[in-house]
Amino acid sequence: MKRYLNYINGEWVESSSKKYAANTNPATGEVLGEVAQSTQEDVERAVQAAKAAQKSWRLVPAPERAEVLYRVAQLLKERKEELAQTITKEMGKVIEEARGEVQEAIDMAYYMAGEGRRLVGETVPSELRNKFAMSIRVPVGIAGFITPWNFPIAIASWKSLPALVAGNAIVWKPASETPFIAAEFVRVYEDAGLPKGLINLVFGSGSVVGNAIVDHPEIDLISFTGSNEVGKQINERAGGLLKRTSLEMGGKNAVTVLEDADLDLAVDGIIWSAYGTSGQRCTACSRIIVHEAVKEELETKLLARIAQLRVGDGLDESIDVGPVINRSSLEKIAQYVHIGVEEGAKLLAGGEILTENGLDKGNFFAPTLFTDVTADMRIAQEEIFGPVASIIPVKSLEEAIEVNNSVAFGLSSSIFTQDINKAFAAMRDLDTGIVYVNAGTTGAEIHLPFGGTKGTGNGHRDSGVAALDVFTEWKSIYVDYSGKLQRAQIDNN
Ligand code: SIN
Repeated sequence: MKRYLNYINGEWVESSSKKYAANTNPATGEVLGEVAQSTQEDVERAVQAAKAAQKSWRLVPAPERAEVLYRVAQLLKERKEELAQTITKEMGKVIEEARGEVQEAIDMAYYMAGEGRRLVGETVPSELRNKFAMSIRVPVGIAGFITPWNFPIAIASWKSLPALVAGNAIVWKPASETPFIAAEFVRVYEDAGLPKGLINLVFGSGSVVGNAIVDHPEIDLISFTGSNEVGKQINERAGGLLKRTSLEMGGKNAVTVLEDADLDLAVDGIIWSAYGTSGQRCTACSRIIVHEAVKEELETKLLARIAQLRVGDGLDESIDVGPVINRSSLEKIAQYVHIGVEEGAKLLAGGEILTENGLDKGNFFAPTLFTDVTADMRIAQEEIFGPVASIIPVKSLEEAIEVNNSVAFGLSSSIFTQDINKAFAAMRDLDTGIVYVNAGTTGAEIHLPFGGTKGTGNGHRDSGVAALDVFTEWKSIYVDYSGKLQRAQIDNN
């Protein structure tokens, strides 16, 4: 049986607990191997290794740090297929999407390697003569990562690549459901020649390893992606220590379809964003806000497409929808379907756990569609994180925007319309961090900021150049070459 150890100070080491947990394939129930269950002591060792390594890494010129990232990009490219297979086996997403996810990490590695020659600051004129003024980015220090299972390498790449190019060291707890891809990503860093101690991988539970990272006084910042509930707890714990926290949490994303939309295109966008990754993307579409004039036609077209979706093991290239991550997720989704029916929503498709045709060993849920949902129903307000979408009819663009914005989250929204005026009004008024026009709610590209408003985040962004704001401090520098004391705001007036 494959056994995955922690990676601390450049070595694969056993946890001090000497305990292991099984890692299973959500499509087949097969045990893939086992993974270390770490302790606070392991986190302590990782922090001390990170601290020692960061001391010299911060002094390495950023273009030289970036050389490692270029090699990471190259290795990810060479290992793309095996990494994608690992993702599908332990997380369940269909293989084509897993390949896309690895591609996202490759893109991010090249992009952030380029930042090694930028890391742009400002030079501004001083208000005084013979004085120079500039701001530069400096590393924060040690970054603690707590990352999710739904994009186990892409999200880890959004965080680790900017952190490293900016001169930080990392202590990383990946999701318990996806330890193997985390280990393989760290092996890429190791093979790319990243100096020891800069990335430290500590497997284990949130309550032990996660909390030890959040509470550790020498970890300077926490970057977290996951549930709202856990994000809030992290914010409270880390806030007490005045730590920087970058939180990317829930979503309740909507596609709006106006009366003038290209309906076939809208159906393509909805099917991909609602049922791709079995609805387990942070940006997945779970609400379809449709103008009443085209509601029936849209429903008919969606139902025809849902009927064609093939559900099964994502390793099979012909499958469209893989399993959901685990049993408790499956049960939660089933519970929400029950809630929807109780609330009076009309179930048009799916709504059940699938066990026939060899699916009984995995966690499969039928692609599900509700209609006649009202904006205040729980299925229209709460994050389900499964292949369930709800149609909410509206009478106008204004009502659609009001419904879109009526939830506690603000990650992604999309609008299908051919009317440029309506599209621009929507771009202005949709209260989400990401807006798509004539595309679904998923498909973020790595060179733009990723994150959201309201309950989705706390003002920070992953990915894009904005990620550097998480992993750097601004330092403002004044150089006076006048040879005399010049007092700002006094000697120039
Ligand atoms: C995500 O939702 O976490 C992935 C990004 C995307 O597909 O938009």
